[in-house]
Amino acid sequence: MSRSSSTRSAAALAEPTPEGPMVKVADVRRSYGTGPAAVHALRGVSFEIGRGELVALKGRSGSGKTTLLNLVGGLDSPDQGTITVDGTDLAGLGENGLLALRRDRVGFIFQSFGLIPILTAAENVGVPMRLRKADPREREERVALLLAMVGLADHAEQRPGELSGGQQQRVAIARALANRPALLIADEPTGQLDAETGLAVMELLRAVVRGEGVTALVATHDAQLLGLADRVLELSDGEIIEH
Ligand SMILES: Nc1ncnc2c1ncn2[C@@H]1O[C@H](COP(=O)(O)OP(=O)(O)OP(=O)(O)O)[C@@H](O)[C@H]1O
Ligand SMILES: [Mg+2]
Repeated sequence: MSRSSSTRSAAALAEPTPEGPMVKVADVRRSYGTGPAAVHALRGVSFEIGRGELVALKGRSGSGKTTLLNLVGGLDSPDQGTITVDGTDLAGLGENGLLALRRDRVGFIFQSFGLIPILTAAENVGVPMRLRKADPREREERVALLLAMVGLADHAEQRPGELSGGQQQRVAIARALANRPALLIADEPTGQLDAETGLAVMELLRAVVRGEGVTALVATHDAQLLGLADRVLELSDGEIIEH
């Protein structure tokens, strides 16, 4: 136990700063490959997201949405520019620090849900808390609360294969919230759902941002869902278009 707690403290993040924007992206560039074959996925992107905002990110396929979300969530590093999340400059974090950021400060939601097939809904939601070595009783209580919040209290023991797409995505939202992240990042979370289910999932995200006080950045193609956002950012060919 002492070993695991010392590992944890080694990767601990500086205390979040309650002032300032939740996300600050300044002149970020990211290319894949080099030379004439290089793809310039982001060509100098700058924006801020205030605390408690739900910001939608739109743009055509290949415009750089996933690249940008991965950078903001600490899954990838920019070639140039700075990214600050909750007052922390990601460039200064290193591998362990980025790991801690993704575990403790950011919740990810993917188009393909990304649930573990052999675990029940409740076990899936509990995974991030296990990684943080949270107290089992605290974990069980929070898992039950989150499943109730996403309307799945009666489905806790079902595995992902026994749930509908919309239910699976609601489990993924509950899981993303397990460690009380400051920031939710969702990459086309309704992309695999029919229009009605997709709208319900987006409305849930909207409610979560209001109710839990989190900030969210959500990539989506869906015009109906854009209307639920506080603000829409548009990427075109690796650049933000001003509206
Ligand atoms: N790992 C990679 N290696 C090489 N090129 C990549 C890689 N990932 C993305 N790209 C390229 O970078 C550009 C931006 O891709 P990205 O996945 O960010 O777009 P997107 O807006 O998320 O698209 P979609 O709506 O289809 O998901 C594209 O031209 C893509 O081909
Ligand atoms: Mg994408």
